[in-house]
This record gives sequence, C-alpha cells and structure tokens, in this order.
Amino acid sequence: MLVNNQYPGPTLTADWGDTVVINIKNSLELNGTSFHWHGLRQQGSNIQDGANGVTECPLPPGLSKTYKFKLTQYGTTWYHSHFSGQYGNGVFGPIVINGPASLPYDIDLGAYPINDYYLRTADEIVWDTLHNPGPPPESDNVLFNGTNINPAGSGGDYSRITVTPGKRHRLRLINTSNENNFQVSIVGHDMTVIATDLVPVNAFTTSNVFLGIGQRMDVTIDAPKAKAGNYWVNVTMPTTSRCGTSLNRQPAAILHYASSPLTNPTDPGVVPPDAQCRDSLSYVPVVTRSAPLDQFTPSAKNKLDVTLPPPAPLVKWQINGTSIDVNWDRPILDYVLNGTTSYPAADNVVIINQKDVWTFWVLENVPNVPHPIHLHGHDFLVLGASATGAGLFTDADKASLRSANPTRRDVTMLPGGGWLVLAFRADNPGNWLMHCHIAWHVSGGMAVDFLERVPEQKAQVSAGDATAFRNNCAKWRDYFDDSGLMKIDSGL
Ligand code: CU
Ligand code: CU
Ligand code: CU
Ligand code: CU
Repeated sequence: MLVNNQYPGPTLTADWGDTVVINIKNSLELNGTSFHWHGLRQQGSNIQDGANGVTECPLPPGLSKTYKFKLTQYGTTWYHSHFSGQYGNGVFGPIVINGPASLPYDIDLGAYPINDYYLRTADEIVWDTLHNPGPPPESDNVLFNGTNINPAGSGGDYSRITVTPGKRHRLRLINTSNENNFQVSIVGHDMTVIATDLVPVNAFTTSNVFLGIGQRMDVTIDAPKAKAGNYWVNVTMPTTSRCGTSLNRQPAAILHYASSPLTNPTDPGVVPPDAQCRDSLSYVPVVTRSAPLDQFTPSAKNKLDVTLPPPAPLVKWQINGTSIDVNWDRPILDYVLNGTTSYPAADNVVIINQKDVWTFWVLENVPNVPHPIHLHGHDFLVLGASATGAGLFTDADKASLRSANPTRRDVTMLPGGGWLVLAFRADNPGNWLMHCHIAWHVSGGMAVDFLERVPEQKAQVSAGDATAFRNNCAKWRDYFDDSGLMKIDSGL
C-alpha cells in the first residue's frame, strides 16, 4: 500500500503558520483509511486529527476527503494511517515545516525516515500478535529512507546521505517503525540535536541518539573537509528485552562526502552504550514551559496502569483495566456532536473538564516491556521516568521529578516494569488518544482517549465539517456492511 505510488510516501513541505489543505483519495480495493498528522496539535481543529473511531469514520474505497488545518508548530514530523496496522503496509510519509532553528546550518538534507520492514503484511502480524503471547516477530530488515541491502545478501542498495565537505547539514531523523526502537550513530561523527519531536531544544552534541517509535530527532552534522570519505550510519537496537530486534543484525546506511568516490566504508565503528530502551531526558526546550508540581498529588485519579492479563482468548493490552476497541462507525466525536455524555466502556475515555488546568499522569507498567507512549493534540512535559524494573510509582518518587522546563515532546518511553510521569495543560479542547506507538500494542488495545473540555469541542466544529463527518460515516456504514472486511483489533 503506497501513498502516491511512493515508499515512503511523499514528504509534505510547508512553512510555519501555513494553513494546509490535503486531499486524500482512498484507491485501495479492500480497506478503509484514515490519515493522522502525528504530533500536530490541531489547536481548535480536533476533527482534522485523522483518528478513525475517535474523530472520524474511516474513508471507504473510491471516496475522497479533504483535511484542512493550520500549522502552529515547525520542524519534522510524519503522517500515517490510523486504520489498524495499515501504516505498516506503507501508508506513511514525512512532514517538514520550515521555521527557526536553535543552531545555524548550511544545508537541509530533509526528512530521513528509518523503519522496520516485514515481508508479511501488518494485518497478518497483528493477527499473530493477538493470538500468540510470545515476543513479536523480528523485522526482516530495517530500511533507511525506504531502502537497504537485503541482509541475506541477495540485492538491494544502501541508502546514501550525501554531505558537502566544509558544510553543516541538518538531518531530520524519524522512526516510522511498527515495533523496532533504534539508537542511531555515525562512525567518526557526532550529531548535534536541535529538536526533539516538534520542540526545538538547545543544541546538544552527542555520539548517538535514541529514536523510539514515532519520535523525531533533528540533528546537525558537520562534514569537515579533512574527513572526506564514506562512513557507516549505524542503527543498533538496545538489548533490553522487547525493545525490538531485526533479522538484519547490523542495519546501516552510508554517509557519503560528495567529493569522495562511492565506496562502502570499512571501519564498523563502535556500538554506542546501550540506552536500555530509555529516552535521554537531558534535552532543554528553547521555549520554556514548566509545570506547577505543587498541584500534583499522586492518586488513583491520575494513574494509568498498563497491564497484560492472561490471554482470554486474545492477547490484549489494558490501561486501567480496559483494552480500547473503537467503533469505526461511531467515533467518540459523534457522541460529542450529539451531546451524548455516556460513552461505551470500550472507548476507554478519560475526562478532563477544567479549562487550562495542568494535568499530571502517572503511567505504571507492570509487564517488563518498554512502550513508546504518544499523545495526540499536545506536547507533554516528561517529568520523570524510572529505571527499568523499578516497580510502581511511590510518593517518595515525587521528589525525583523535574518540572522546570523538562524535556517536552509527543512520544517518550515508558520503561519496562517501571513508571513515567507526564504533564500537559488542558488548553486544547478535543478528543485525544494517548497510546503506545508499537503498532501491535495499539492494535491490542493499549490506548486511552482523553476527552478534553467536551462542551467546547462541539462549538469548534463548523456546520460544514459536521455534515462532511456524518456523510462520510453514512458511506462507511454502507461500504463496510457488505465489504467482507473484518475488524480484528482495536481499530487503531
Ligand atoms: Cu499522533
Ligand atoms: Cu504516530
Ligand atoms: Cu507498547
Ligand atoms: Cu495515534
């Protein structure tokens, strides 16, 4: 499945402040689709968020839909289908929004998606992971900007990143994987991080970056003339249990100086220190934001407990005892538009009513499996995360939290068997998913839906948008009932 016949899909490029209009036609034979603009806040435009079963019904085959929204952020992100595991079949692509940077650079090398690749369809793997409690399959390869050699040695090409000697380059790394989390390093070169997700940070120079699923790292790379040559760009996967593994044991691309012959590098480099599948929390946002920690009291109300009960009969992830299972033909936004305030338990809604209040969330992860946690509609402040295997959050852990301009982004890692504390301000009325970005886990139910300031949501939706929403839902129902298509997972 491709967007405009390309893999990855075409890069959408725009400027900070632009209003963008994107026309989608579903030309698939047997599948709905739904386009989500990962990390874009959709301030006041929740209905454009592209989460099927949440803010829209899927778009049936043969039909078109127009998304329109304003870009209030800048940097690097991506779009992807939210229709079950469909993005793993190829329905994704980068987004670049031009704006200021915290460090000057000469050349923008553009978006650079890196992702796991499977010979089987995402649908088959979703089915398997729902029926087998063991570890998920290893990826068959890791692709850099859509290409790599076949690890079995039977063809393909390395991706080459071409740099100009004497110049500083910006590279926009994006992990568009289903299940593999990466550490990225370049032999003989440091990288300087200038943005984490869509948040510019003070320039931070490092030998390697951790790139969880869904995350972006905008880095600059200096290419001194004296270093002219070819160098491996290495991806390693933390050895921590369940951080992702690939049948390609040494996934790599090539950093190529334009002045040098095209050869494969020889120096394999050194494996970076194992990040243990945890994010670095040392990135400092340029635009500061702090959370009032005195307003945070750990309680049952702000806990989100992640569990993996014994298969019954399916393997389902739960948050606060519920596996999300959305109705494609009855999105939560439909309840909001109709003024219905009782929601199905399977939509796992969490209600936030108070305007502009800071909300604090303690995620506790019983299973020893790390999860890249993503929130729609907001950047969250990452107040703290435990060591792997640290157990549940205790009152004593509150002292370790950092609330003064901590790392801020839209995906961060919840450690295996540990906890994570996030904060965001209820400043964006809407209906926003928070979920694990491992495709197999969100299919397996690992999500909640924050219903933020319901009374104001309805007022934001124009009459035209509401009509288009209802018409599309009617067409989806007509299509789905006779399609032979089955919903086997959460729908997300
Ligand atoms: Cu998102
Ligand atoms: Cu995403
Ligand atoms: Cu997960
Ligand atoms: Cu999502």
